[in-house]
Amino acid sequence: MYTYNEFDHAFVRDRTEEFRDQVARRIAGELTEDEFKPLRLMNGLYLQLHAYMLRVAIPYGTLSAVQMRQLGYIARRWDRNWGHFTTRQNIQYNWTKLDDVPDILDALADVEMHAIQTSGNCIRNVTADQFAGVAADEIEDSRVWAEIMRQWSTLHPEFTFLPRKFKIAITGSENDRAAVKLHDIGLRMRRNDAGEVGFEVIVGGGQGRTPIVGETIREFLPKQHLLSYLEAILRTYNLLGRRDNLYKARIKILVAAVGIEKFAEMVEEEWLDIKDSALTLDAAKISEIERHFAPPTYEDIAEPVAPYDAARFTDPAFATWTRTNLFPHKQPGYTIVTVSLKPAGGVPGDATAEQMEALADLVEKYSLGELRIAHEQNVVLPYVRKQDLHKLWQALGEHGLADANIGLITDIISCPGLDYCNLANARAIPIAQRLSRHFADPALQSEIGPITLNISGCINACGHHHVGNIGILGVDKKGVEHYQITIGGIADENAAIGKILGPSFPAEGVVDAIDTLIGTFRKIRAEGETFIDTVSRVGINPFKETLYANH
Ligand code: HEM
Ligand code: SF4
Repeated sequence: MYTYNEFDHAFVRDRTEEFRDQVARRIAGELTEDEFKPLRLMNGLYLQLHAYMLRVAIPYGTLSAVQMRQLGYIARRWDRNWGHFTTRQNIQYNWTKLDDVPDILDALADVEMHAIQTSGNCIRNVTADQFAGVAADEIEDSRVWAEIMRQWSTLHPEFTFLPRKFKIAITGSENDRAAVKLHDIGLRMRRNDAGEVGFEVIVGGGQGRTPIVGETIREFLPKQHLLSYLEAILRTYNLLGRRDNLYKARIKILVAAVGIEKFAEMVEEEWLDIKDSALTLDAAKISEIERHFAPPTYEDIAEPVAPYDAARFTDPAFATWTRTNLFPHKQPGYTIVTVSLKPAGGVPGDATAEQMEALADLVEKYSLGELRIAHEQNVVLPYVRKQDLHKLWQALGEHGLADANIGLITDIISCPGLDYCNLANARAIPIAQRLSRHFADPALQSEIGPITLNISGCINACGHHHVGNIGILGVDKKGVEHYQITIGGIADENAAIGKILGPSFPAEGVVDAIDTLIGTFRKIRAEGETFIDTVSRVGINPFKETLYANH
């Protein structure tokens, strides 16, 4: 993992002290809320419906056990005993008190964390594949590049006041687990014909009220040019992006307006000027960062691992969990575990202080002290020996963390919605809770098979509803919360925006509506098809017809 150097430590402490002073002046009435707002937002502090919300960055979703324990401590000491992991690999504390925030920031600085650039029109926390460095299908560890981008983008003087927020995601494998086509810039590591590793650069993706799948502007960018090329894209955007209309300010609108070819041309032209500047990454700099992400010393473990196979044979509940919550590791004898934060009736992405502390203890014992946050709002243990899995699973169960539902219908992504967010049209959390209760039966979930179901409380799409195989969007219909349903969205390398099925439903009709869609799917699916396979084959009409048959 990356560890702070002296500069990082001093910088984060100074920022906390500066904010402590600003908070004191706000509380003393020396600053009005209007004056204070830009200052607090620069430190990740939002004012929500009921309280201040602090958004803490988890760079590319990577956490040490020590950091996770501290996040739990903060939840217990200064919040209501829980935190909310988000689709941008951040954690949000929903109930912070203003005068506690400087102490929270100090507690974060103690473990090399902060809340800078989690808000505002700057380059936000870079997100990455949660399996980076360990996935069997990976080309290279994308965290190295995410860290290089983090250092370059943090307080970049030229890009602190962009037309709008800017989000970058990177994946190190052909299989995209970081939704790179739905970001302002998406990077996919790939190998060229000569066998060299570089980046495919995708630009102009995004969700919100104008959802767009990003397009490739460069098939292959050699590694050493990453920062100069990003800088060229950002300069082009910073100059030409619209500042007159909030809804047209994202880079995707600029790219759509000028066309991808023209945009690529402008970037290449800008790039020519800076291509061989100080931004070029030399081998020494790259290997300095690579050292932080060097693979651990793995044990030689022969496959198959007998105690693991035996436990699967004798314990069917464990066997079910291993079928859904594991992912192939690049090292024989090891596996990647995804711990579900989606219990039936629970709030997607929420973890209590006890659960965070338990996870910290468990990764110290079973996963080399490291964990990850997935953008699907789950927690990943990247280095688990197969012979430890049964014990780990039992221990997770003691903390309500052993749900076997990763990638299934109850693994719901949801934004905070109207329970917290002052932009919301409708509640998202209670809908997620009802749906996860309704579909809780493991046999039913397994029968339905892989599917994504995403919910947002408004068109801003923080819950990725546009790219859920089933998407649910909260809308306001004459002052009453309603929900519009889309199907056919995809967030991976085949990214697609879902299509609206028809008129929206009131809250009490949503579970029935989703049940009807699933019932239709089960009736018409061909052998071996997933939900999205069926939608791709038959289109949305059969679903639309059954959904509105009685309306
Ligand atoms: C304080 C509460 C929040 C506010 C005020 C807020 C605000 C917004 C706004 C205004 C947009 C639309 C941006 C645009 O279209 O230009 C947006 C998009 C987004 N937000 Fe949030 N959000 C909040 C919470 C969250 C949470 C909890 C998550 C993660 C679960 C999240 C993740 C995202 C994502 C993934 C997008 C879509 C990608 C994009 O276009 O930027 N946000 N948010
Ligand atoms: S999608 Fe809307 S309701 Fe949900 S968190 Fe984002 S801004 Fe708030």
